[in-house]
Amino acid sequence: MGRAFVYVILGGGVAAGYAALEFSKRGISHGELCIISEESVPPYERPALSKGFLLPEAPARLPSFHTCVGANEERLTPEWYKEHGIELVIGTQVKSVDVRRKTLLAGSGETISYKVLIIATGARALKLEEFGVKGSDSGNVCYLRDLADANRLVDLMESSSGGNAIVIGGGYIGMECAASLVINRMNVTMVFPEEHCMARLFTPKIASFYEEFYKSKGVKKVDVKFFWNNMNFEWLLSCFRQNKFCTFLNRENIGSMVTAVNLRDGSSLPADVVVVGIGIRPNKSLFEGQLTLEKGGIKVNGKMQSSNSSVYAVGDVATFPVKVFGESRRLEHVDSARKSARHAVTAIMERNQVDEFDYLPFFYSRIFTLSWQFYGDNAGDVVHFGDFSGGTFGAYWVRKGQLVGSFLEGGTKEEYEAIAKATRQKPEVEDLAELERQGLGFALTV
Ligand code: FDA
Ligand code: NAD
Repeated sequence: MGRAFVYVILGGGVAAGYAALEFSKRGISHGELCIISEESVPPYERPALSKGFLLPEAPARLPSFHTCVGANEERLTPEWYKEHGIELVIGTQVKSVDVRRKTLLAGSGETISYKVLIIATGARALKLEEFGVKGSDSGNVCYLRDLADANRLVDLMESSSGGNAIVIGGGYIGMECAASLVINRMNVTMVFPEEHCMARLFTPKIASFYEEFYKSKGVKKVDVKFFWNNMNFEWLLSCFRQNKFCTFLNRENIGSMVTAVNLRDGSSLPADVVVVGIGIRPNKSLFEGQLTLEKGGIKVNGKMQSSNSSVYAVGDVATFPVKVFGESRRLEHVDSARKSARHAVTAIMERNQVDEFDYLPFFYSRIFTLSWQFYGDNAGDVVHFGDFSGGTFGAYWVRKGQLVGSFLEGGTKEEYEAIAKATRQKPEVEDLAELERQGLGFALTV
């Protein structure tokens, strides 16, 4: 026995919230839509967890950041779902899906059937154990993907204020958490294997600005690149438990606290809190063998439709065609989750009589008093411009004579809009030196 819905959204994160709003704008009937989520709260703006949520003064707390406040739209509280006749099945993990029969089996044992399914399962944080490093089930080792993780991190920061925090990973989580830990008066050391922070996006010149800035805030950086060629995480560190001599093999110590992060070169970093941000893996395992997968995600077309015509995928889990890249990619950013969700709902409601999703990738971050935005693709030749000593600065990427990517730190609303518009238009660039000379002015006049 189970319930039947016309539309089911599997997952209750950012994309689910924006899809629900789009369904309601398009006028679905009460009882037609169901959202099933493992999380115990309705969809919220996940980016808040590494920013406002971690502030020591007046931190952001639910219900203030439920979707869709991140795009200045309605805030979808639990009451909103009730008023709109949307069934919210929260605190419920879906254990299996049968796309041929169009059914989902919930952890509660209930079978839920659909006519159209939207997969919005997002991703999970990669664990140290997956690289052979033990210790991340210790009480003071944190990942940061959901509200429960964020609550744990807040508790740890409160209980070990003034202590040592080790941040493992130099990507988004590493950068944003390091800043928050400093603001919470912790001594912070970052450990990452690449030449510089944010290696997936930043050029060495951009990274060096942020690294210097972090240094001025007291953040220490441990350079472990010497070992990186081994392509094996185990060299990087091992987290020893309280009784260093028993280490992690002593079962009595399971669940105790990590006291140090030991690097393979023999050095040891004392730790009261360890925050790990070493990337994510999309939650797609329920669909392996049932849908076509590509680049780690669920392959969809420009209507966000998977290889099964009744199943759509959106957000972090979807691999979709991106024009500026000239190929399909999976993006792990909130703007793409919001817009791909809206596009999927539009396609569903318009019976696929819609244009292809024409998405310009947009990434951003806010750390300390700094704030940057990036549009497009970071491929090709790079031209830097502006004041790298603490003012407004940025970079353009030029591939095959066309502008394909733009980065700007410290811009105004108008300036960010200008780089977005310019990148979307892909203007021709003949002379890189001239582009450098014009700097931001180039985007402002496109
Ligand atoms: P999302 O992860 O939001 O939601 C997936 C949902 O599916 C979850 O509710 C999960 O529990 C549920 N689920 C998965 N499997 C399930 C199952 N089997 N059964 C039931 N439910 C299941 N991006 C950006 O552009 N700017 C930023 O500043 C930030 N900041 C940021 C901070 C932090 C701490 C994180 C973790 C991430 C960001 N991001 C970001 C990334 C951004 O939040 C991310 O791209 C979106 O949340 C993706 O939205 P989705 O809905 O695809 O997944
Ligand atoms: P990431 O991919 O940004 O960075 C992962 C980092 O982990 C790498 O930069 C590297 O330093 C380290 N790393 C990766 N593999 C490693 C290995 N084998 N050994 C050692 N170190 C390794 O991922 P993240 O920082 O964990 O962020 C998780 C997700 O959250 C991403 O999807 C990200 O887009 C999202 N997020 C985005 C924002 C934002 O857009 N402002 C903010 C927070 C989180």
